[in-house]
Amino acid sequence: METDIIVDLQYGDSGKGKVAHFLCKTKKYTHVLRYNGGCNAGHTIFHKGKKFITHHIPAGVFWGIKSIIGPGCVVDPVQFLKEIKMLEDGGIKTKGKIFVAKNTHVITASHRNEDAVDVAIGTTKRGNGPAYRDKYARIGVRAEQVKALKPYLIDLYEEFYENKKKVVILGEGAQGFGLDIDWGDYPFVTSSHCTTAGALLNGLPPQSVRHVWGVAKMYETYVGTKKFEPKNPAFEELRRVGEEYGSTTGRPRQCNWMNVDLIEQAVRVNGVTHLVFNKTDVMREVGEWAVLIGGKVRAFKGEKEMKHFLTTRLKALGIPPRQVYFSESREAI
Ligand code: IMO
Ligand code: MG
Repeated sequence: METDIIVDLQYGDSGKGKVAHFLCKTKKYTHVLRYNGGCNAGHTIFHKGKKFITHHIPAGVFWGIKSIIGPGCVVDPVQFLKEIKMLEDGGIKTKGKIFVAKNTHVITASHRNEDAVDVAIGTTKRGNGPAYRDKYARIGVRAEQVKALKPYLIDLYEEFYENKKKVVILGEGAQGFGLDIDWGDYPFVTSSHCTTAGALLNGLPPQSVRHVWGVAKMYETYVGTKKFEPKNPAFEELRRVGEEYGSTTGRPRQCNWMNVDLIEQAVRVNGVTHLVFNKTDVMREVGEWAVLIGGKVRAFKGEKEMKHFLTTRLKALGIPPRQVYFSESREAI
Protein backbone atom coordinates (compact mmCIF):
# COMPACT_ATOMS: atom_id res chain seq x y z
CA MET A 1 0.00 0.00 0.00
CA GLU A 2 1.11 3.55 -0.70
CA THR A 3 -0.51 6.69 0.62
CA ASP A 4 -0.25 10.42 0.09
CA ILE A 5 -1.93 12.62 2.65
CA ILE A 6 -3.22 16.18 2.34
CA VAL A 7 -3.23 18.31 5.49
CA ASP A 8 -4.27 21.92 6.01
CA LEU A 9 -1.63 23.87 7.96
CA GLN A 10 -3.95 26.73 8.98
CA TYR A 11 -7.64 27.16 9.89
CA GLY A 12 -9.29 25.36 7.01
CA ASP A 13 -10.14 26.89 3.63
CA SER A 14 -6.55 26.81 2.45
CA GLY A 15 -7.34 25.13 -0.89
CA LYS A 16 -7.18 21.42 0.00
CA GLY A 17 -9.92 20.60 -2.50
CA LYS A 18 -7.92 22.12 -5.32
CA VAL A 19 -4.74 20.24 -4.34
CA ALA A 20 -6.72 16.98 -4.02
CA HIS A 21 -8.28 17.54 -7.44
CA PHE A 22 -4.87 18.21 -8.97
CA LEU A 23 -3.16 15.20 -7.35
CA CYS A 24 -6.02 12.89 -8.39
CA LYS A 25 -5.53 13.96 -11.96
CA THR A 26 -1.84 13.16 -12.02
CA LYS A 27 -0.93 10.51 -9.46
CA LYS A 28 -2.95 7.40 -10.35
CA TYR A 29 -4.66 6.72 -7.05
CA THR A 30 -6.91 3.70 -6.61
CA HIS A 31 -8.79 5.35 -3.72
CA VAL A 32 -9.38 8.80 -2.26
CA LEU A 33 -10.27 8.77 1.41
CA ARG A 34 -11.80 11.63 3.40
CA TYR A 35 -10.28 11.01 6.79
CA ASN A 36 -11.82 13.52 9.23
CA GLY A 37 -14.69 15.94 9.78
CA GLY A 38 -18.25 15.99 8.54
CA CYS A 39 -20.21 18.28 6.26
CA ASN A 40 -18.69 21.26 8.11
CA ALA A 41 -16.04 21.11 5.37
CA GLY A 42 -16.49 23.02 2.15
CA HIS A 43 -14.10 22.11 -0.63
CA THR A 44 -14.30 24.31 -3.71
CA ILE A 45 -13.27 22.48 -6.85
CA PHE A 46 -13.15 23.72 -10.43
CA HIS A 47 -13.65 20.71 -12.67
CA LYS A 48 -13.61 21.18 -16.43
CA GLY A 49 -14.58 24.82 -16.02
CA LYS A 50 -17.45 24.19 -13.60
CA LYS A 51 -17.44 25.14 -9.92
CA PHE A 52 -18.45 22.50 -7.36
CA ILE A 53 -18.52 22.75 -3.56
CA THR A 54 -18.32 19.39 -1.81
CA HIS A 55 -18.86 18.90 1.91
CA HIS A 56 -18.51 15.15 2.37
CA ILE A 57 -17.38 13.46 -0.83
CA PRO A 58 -13.67 13.50 -1.68
CA ALA A 59 -12.25 14.86 -4.93
CA GLY A 60 -11.53 11.44 -6.46
CA VAL A 61 -15.11 11.26 -7.68
CA PHE A 62 -14.39 13.92 -10.34
CA TRP A 63 -11.88 11.56 -11.96
CA GLY A 64 -13.84 8.33 -11.48
CA ILE A 65 -11.63 7.15 -8.58
CA LYS A 66 -13.24 5.22 -5.70
CA SER A 67 -14.06 7.91 -3.14
CA ILE A 68 -14.54 6.84 0.45
CA ILE A 69 -15.72 8.57 3.61
CA GLY A 70 -13.58 6.95 6.30
CA PRO A 71 -14.34 6.13 9.93
CA GLY A 72 -12.44 9.21 11.15
CA CYS A 73 -15.35 11.22 9.69
CA VAL A 74 -18.95 11.72 10.72
CA VAL A 75 -21.50 11.52 7.94
CA ASP A 76 -24.89 13.19 7.60
CA PRO A 77 -26.96 10.87 5.38
CA VAL A 78 -29.26 13.72 4.27
CA GLN A 79 -26.36 15.96 3.17
CA PHE A 80 -24.53 12.99 1.68
CA LEU A 81 -27.43 12.05 -0.59
CA LYS A 82 -27.99 15.73 -1.52
CA GLU A 83 -24.35 15.97 -2.51
CA ILE A 84 -24.53 12.91 -4.73
CA LYS A 85 -27.52 14.50 -6.49
CA MET A 86 -25.64 17.80 -6.86
CA LEU A 87 -22.70 15.99 -8.46
CA GLU A 88 -24.95 13.96 -10.79
CA ASP A 89 -26.82 17.13 -11.79
CA GLY A 90 -23.44 18.69 -12.58
CA GLY A 91 -22.57 15.83 -14.93
CA ILE A 92 -20.29 13.84 -12.58
CA LYS A 93 -20.84 10.07 -12.70
CA THR A 94 -21.03 8.79 -9.13
CA LYS A 95 -22.46 5.30 -9.52
CA GLY A 96 -20.15 2.69 -7.99
CA LYS A 97 -17.62 5.39 -7.07
CA ILE A 98 -18.81 6.70 -3.69
CA PHE A 99 -18.57 4.71 -0.47
CA VAL A 100 -18.94 5.17 3.28
CA ALA A 101 -16.96 2.94 5.65
CA LYS A 102 -19.50 0.92 7.57
CA ASN A 103 -17.97 1.92 10.91
CA THR A 104 -18.25 5.67 10.21
CA HIS A 105 -20.48 7.48 12.71
CA VAL A 106 -23.60 9.31 11.63
CA ILE A 107 -24.78 12.89 12.21
CA THR A 108 -28.48 12.72 13.13
CA ALA A 109 -31.22 15.38 13.10
CA SER A 110 -30.84 15.78 16.85
CA HIS A 111 -27.09 16.46 16.45
CA ARG A 112 -27.94 19.13 13.87
CA ASN A 113 -30.58 20.70 16.12
CA GLU A 114 -28.25 20.79 19.06
CA ASP A 115 -25.43 22.40 17.03
CA ALA A 116 -27.88 24.91 15.50
CA VAL A 117 -28.02 26.90 18.76
CA ASP A 118 -24.25 27.04 19.32
CA VAL A 119 -22.96 30.57 19.98
CA ALA A 120 -19.79 29.90 21.98
CA ILE A 121 -17.59 28.49 19.22
CA GLY A 122 -19.27 29.75 16.06
CA THR A 123 -19.52 26.28 14.54
CA THR A 124 -20.80 25.57 11.05
CA LYS A 125 -23.98 24.22 12.75
CA ARG A 126 -23.72 20.94 10.86
CA GLY A 127 -23.95 18.69 13.94
CA ASN A 128 -20.28 17.80 13.87
CA GLY A 129 -19.40 18.25 17.59
CA PRO A 130 -22.46 16.44 18.99
CA ALA A 131 -21.90 13.50 16.59
CA TYR A 132 -18.29 13.02 17.69
CA ARG A 133 -19.32 13.44 21.34
CA ASP A 134 -21.84 10.60 21.00
CA LYS A 135 -19.30 8.44 19.18
CA TYR A 136 -16.87 8.72 22.08
CA ALA A 137 -19.64 8.39 24.67
CA ARG A 138 -20.43 5.07 22.91
CA ILE A 139 -24.03 6.00 22.25
CA GLY A 140 -23.61 6.92 18.57
CA VAL A 141 -25.06 5.40 15.41
CA ARG A 142 -22.82 3.89 12.75
CA ALA A 143 -23.39 4.08 8.99
CA GLU A 144 -24.11 0.34 8.84
CA GLN A 145 -27.25 0.96 10.96
CA VAL A 146 -28.72 3.47 8.49
CA LYS A 147 -30.93 2.06 5.73
CA ALA A 148 -30.37 4.96 3.30
CA LEU A 149 -26.59 4.35 3.40
CA LYS A 150 -26.78 0.58 2.70
CA PRO A 151 -25.96 0.89 -1.03
CA TYR A 152 -22.77 2.84 -0.24
CA LEU A 153 -21.27 0.82 2.62
CA ILE A 154 -17.76 -0.54 2.39
CA ASP A 155 -15.60 -2.64 4.70
CA LEU A 156 -12.26 -0.79 4.70
CA TYR A 157 -10.24 -3.74 5.96
CA GLU A 158 -11.43 -5.93 3.10
CA GLU A 159 -10.99 -3.11 0.60
CA PHE A 160 -7.44 -2.21 1.64
CA TYR A 161 -6.01 -5.52 2.89
CA GLU A 162 -7.88 -8.42 1.31
CA ASN A 163 -7.79 -6.97 -2.15
CA LYS A 164 -5.10 -8.70 -4.25
CA LYS A 165 -4.32 -5.49 -6.14
CA LYS A 166 -1.96 -2.77 -4.96
CA VAL A 167 -3.79 0.15 -3.39
CA VAL A 168 -2.58 3.74 -3.71
CA ILE A 169 -4.59 6.02 -1.51
CA LEU A 170 -4.90 9.78 -1.31
CA GLY A 171 -6.06 10.95 2.13
CA GLU A 172 -8.07 14.16 1.82
CA GLY A 173 -8.42 16.11 5.06
CA ALA A 174 -10.93 18.64 6.26
CA GLN A 175 -10.47 21.69 8.50
CA GLY A 176 -6.86 22.35 9.54
CA PHE A 177 -4.09 22.31 12.12
CA GLY A 178 -5.31 25.53 13.83
CA LEU A 179 -8.74 23.91 14.25
CA ASP A 180 -7.44 20.51 15.36
CA ILE A 181 -9.04 19.18 18.54
CA ASP A 182 -5.63 18.76 20.20
CA TRP A 183 -3.32 21.24 18.44
CA GLY A 184 -5.75 24.08 17.80
CA ASP A 185 -6.71 26.95 20.08
CA TYR A 186 -9.15 24.96 22.26
CA PRO A 187 -12.11 25.41 22.60
CA PHE A 188 -12.17 27.31 19.26
CA VAL A 189 -11.56 24.09 17.38
CA THR A 190 -13.43 21.39 15.53
CA SER A 191 -14.05 17.95 17.05
CA SER A 192 -11.74 15.82 14.94
CA HIS A 193 -8.08 15.14 14.17
CA CYS A 194 -6.94 17.26 11.20
CA THR A 195 -3.41 15.84 11.09
CA THR A 196 -1.47 13.08 9.34
CA ALA A 197 -2.03 11.02 12.49
CA GLY A 198 -5.77 11.62 12.02
CA ALA A 199 -5.51 10.21 8.50
CA LEU A 200 -3.70 7.10 9.75
CA LEU A 201 -6.59 6.42 12.15
CA ASN A 202 -8.58 5.36 9.08
CA GLY A 203 -6.66 2.11 8.66
CA LEU A 204 -3.56 3.43 6.91
CA PRO A 205 -0.28 1.99 8.22
CA PRO A 206 2.46 4.60 8.88
CA GLN A 207 5.03 2.91 6.63
CA SER A 208 2.68 3.31 3.66
CA VAL A 209 3.00 7.10 3.74
CA ARG A 210 4.88 8.38 0.70
CA HIS A 211 4.20 12.12 0.67
CA VAL A 212 2.45 14.52 3.02
CA TRP A 213 1.12 17.54 1.16
CA GLY A 214 0.73 20.54 3.45
CA VAL A 215 -1.60 23.23 2.15
CA ALA A 216 -1.68 26.87 3.28
CA LYS A 217 -2.75 30.25 1.95
CA MET A 218 -0.35 33.17 1.58
CA TYR A 219 -2.39 34.84 4.31
CA GLU A 220 -4.63 33.43 7.01
CA THR A 221 -8.38 33.24 7.43
CA TYR A 222 -10.55 31.97 10.25
CA VAL A 223 -14.31 31.63 10.71
CA GLY A 224 -15.75 31.42 14.20
CA THR A 225 -16.35 33.34 17.41
CA LYS A 226 -12.73 34.05 18.36
CA LYS A 227 -11.39 37.56 17.65
CA PHE A 228 -8.79 36.96 14.98
CA GLU A 229 -8.60 39.97 12.67
CA PRO A 230 -6.70 43.04 13.90
CA LYS A 231 -7.63 46.45 12.47
CA ASN A 232 -5.97 46.86 9.09
CA PRO A 233 -7.56 47.94 5.78
CA ALA A 234 -5.32 45.36 4.04
CA PHE A 235 -7.33 42.56 5.67
CA GLU A 236 -10.60 43.96 4.33
CA GLU A 237 -8.95 44.01 0.92
CA LEU A 238 -7.77 40.40 1.30
CA ARG A 239 -11.37 39.39 2.11
CA ARG A 240 -12.76 41.28 -0.87
CA VAL A 241 -10.17 40.24 -3.45
CA GLY A 242 -9.81 36.69 -2.13
CA GLU A 243 -13.61 36.26 -1.86
CA GLU A 244 -13.12 35.10 1.71
CA TYR A 245 -16.63 34.05 2.62
CA GLY A 246 -17.34 30.57 4.02
CA SER A 247 -18.19 27.99 1.35
CA THR A 248 -20.37 26.08 3.85
CA THR A 249 -22.04 28.95 5.73
CA GLY A 250 -21.36 32.10 3.68
CA ARG A 251 -19.94 33.87 6.76
CA PRO A 252 -17.19 36.48 6.18
CA ARG A 253 -13.82 34.98 7.07
CA GLN A 254 -11.59 37.00 9.39
CA CYS A 255 -8.24 37.67 7.73
CA ASN A 256 -4.70 38.11 9.01
CA TRP A 257 -1.11 37.72 7.83
CA MET A 258 0.21 34.19 7.57
CA ASN A 259 1.37 32.97 10.98
CA VAL A 260 4.74 31.38 10.21
CA ASP A 261 4.99 29.83 13.69
CA LEU A 262 1.73 27.95 13.14
CA ILE A 263 2.87 26.75 9.71
CA GLU A 264 6.16 25.49 11.12
CA GLN A 265 4.46 23.66 13.97
CA ALA A 266 2.04 22.08 11.50
CA VAL A 267 4.89 21.09 9.17
CA ARG A 268 6.68 19.31 12.00
CA VAL A 269 3.69 17.61 13.63
CA ASN A 270 2.32 16.42 10.28
CA GLY A 271 5.67 15.39 8.76
CA VAL A 272 5.01 17.54 5.69
CA THR A 273 7.14 16.70 2.64
CA HIS A 274 5.54 18.98 0.00
CA LEU A 275 3.92 22.34 0.54
CA VAL A 276 1.49 24.39 -1.52
CA PHE A 277 0.91 28.08 -0.77
CA ASN A 278 -2.31 29.18 -2.43
CA LYS A 279 -3.71 32.55 -3.49
CA THR A 280 -0.43 34.30 -4.23
CA ASP A 281 -2.35 36.39 -6.77
CA VAL A 282 -4.61 37.76 -4.02
CA MET A 283 -1.62 39.11 -2.09
CA ARG A 284 -0.27 40.57 -5.33
CA GLU A 285 -3.52 42.38 -6.05
CA VAL A 286 -3.71 43.74 -2.49
CA GLY A 287 -0.06 44.72 -2.88
CA GLU A 288 1.23 44.13 0.63
CA TRP A 289 3.61 41.34 1.64
CA ALA A 290 3.96 40.40 5.31
CA VAL A 291 3.84 37.52 7.78
CA LEU A 292 3.47 37.13 11.53
CA ILE A 293 6.41 35.58 13.30
CA GLY A 294 7.06 35.43 17.05
CA GLY A 295 3.84 37.43 17.48
CA LYS A 296 5.20 40.35 15.41
CA VAL A 297 4.49 41.53 11.88
CA ARG A 298 7.38 41.17 9.47
CA ALA A 299 6.90 43.08 6.23
CA PHE A 300 8.68 42.38 2.92
CA LYS A 301 9.60 44.62 0.01
CA GLY A 302 7.72 42.40 -2.37
CA GLU A 303 6.63 38.98 -3.53
CA LYS A 304 10.11 37.67 -4.25
CA GLU A 305 11.38 38.50 -0.78
CA MET A 306 8.42 36.84 0.96
CA LYS A 307 8.72 33.69 -1.15
CA HIS A 308 12.44 33.54 -0.47
CA PHE A 309 11.84 33.94 3.27
CA LEU A 310 9.31 31.09 3.30
CA THR A 311 11.36 28.68 1.20
CA THR A 312 14.44 29.35 3.37
CA ARG A 313 12.50 28.64 6.57
CA LEU A 314 11.10 25.43 5.08
CA LYS A 315 14.49 24.31 3.83
CA ALA A 316 15.68 24.51 7.44
CA LEU A 317 12.85 22.10 8.30
CA GLY A 318 13.98 19.67 5.62
CA ILE A 319 11.63 20.61 2.75
CA PRO A 320 13.67 21.32 -0.40
CA PRO A 321 12.60 24.42 -2.41
CA ARG A 322 11.56 22.23 -5.38
CA GLN A 323 8.85 20.75 -3.14
CA VAL A 324 7.40 24.17 -2.27
CA TYR A 325 4.80 25.51 -4.70
CA PHE A 326 3.30 28.99 -4.92
CA SER A 327 -0.06 28.82 -6.62
CA GLU A 328 -2.65 31.28 -7.94
CA SER A 329 -6.37 31.22 -7.10
CA ARG A 330 -7.74 29.09 -9.89
CA GLU A 331 -4.75 27.51 -11.59
CA ALA A 332 -3.55 23.99 -11.00
CA ILE A 333 -0.32 23.75 -9.04
P1 IMO B 1 -12.72 23.03 5.32
O1 IMO B 1 -12.59 21.56 5.19
C1 IMO B 1 -12.92 26.54 7.86
C2 IMO B 1 -14.60 26.01 11.90
C3 IMO B 1 -15.91 26.66 12.26
C4 IMO B 1 -15.70 26.89 13.77
C5 IMO B 1 -14.93 25.64 14.19
C6 IMO B 1 -15.82 24.53 14.77
O2 IMO B 1 -13.53 23.69 4.28
O3 IMO B 1 -11.37 23.66 5.46
P2 IMO B 1 -17.50 22.82 13.63
O4 IMO B 1 -18.71 23.03 12.75
O5 IMO B 1 -16.41 22.03 12.99
O6 IMO B 1 -17.86 22.27 14.99
O7 IMO B 1 -16.92 24.30 13.90
O8 IMO B 1 -14.30 25.16 13.01
N1 IMO B 1 -14.64 25.14 10.70
C7 IMO B 1 -14.06 25.44 9.52
N2 IMO B 1 -13.43 26.56 9.11
N3 IMO B 1 -12.99 25.50 7.03
C8 IMO B 1 -13.60 24.36 7.43
O9 IMO B 1 -13.55 23.23 6.69
C9 IMO B 1 -14.21 24.31 8.70
N4 IMO B 1 -14.91 23.37 9.39
C10 IMO B 1 -15.15 23.89 10.62
O10 IMO B 1 -16.10 27.87 11.55
O11 IMO B 1 -14.84 27.98 14.01
MG1 MG C 1 -13.61 25.26 3.13
